[in-house]
Amino acid sequence: MTTDANENLDDWLRDAHAMEQQAEKMLTAQSERLEHYPALRERIIQHIEETRWQQGMVDACIQRRGTSNSVLKDLGGKLAAFGQAVGGMAASDEVVKGAMAGYVFENIEIATYTTLIAGAEQVGDLQTKTACEQILVQEKAMAAWLLEHMPEVTKAFLLRDASPGMPAKV
Ligand SMILES: [Fe+2]
Repeated sequence: MTTDANENLDDWLRDAHAMEQQAEKMLTAQSERLEHYPALRERIIQHIEETRWQQGMVDACIQRRGTSNSVLKDLGGKLAAFGQAVGGMAASDEVVKGAMAGYVFENIEIATYTTLIAGAEQVGDLQTKTACEQILVQEKAMAAWLLEHMPEVTKAFLLRDASPGMPAKV
């Protein structure tokens, strides 16, 4: 049994669309809960905007290629479970776990778009390739920001957590 390269590409685009919907949910939940880490919250809000734009870009690729994204693949569900497991909303160190989970999620996105770019290149769909390249720049920037600010977030959390009367969790 074989699968046409275009069918694989269509599948991956649907996966990417489901992934971005999950990303928006996770980021929105995080940003709404964060109170004491304004720089992190700000960056997350910026990435929510980017994520919505990315959804539109991926959707346009799906539409243009003439496939439907109405059948959501189960990847979205899998990522949801992942987000809940790693996100650790109930954790007393939620902000740190959340930053870590965000970084891991961005790297899943980076891998997804790197794959999509290669696939689009292979089938000669240059519009999809260009769209995914534009998205990849944003995902790499978000991943880099999170990693760069991980020590700062961790230290701010530790300081707050060790101070009486200072909420540290979010
Ligand atoms: Fe992202």
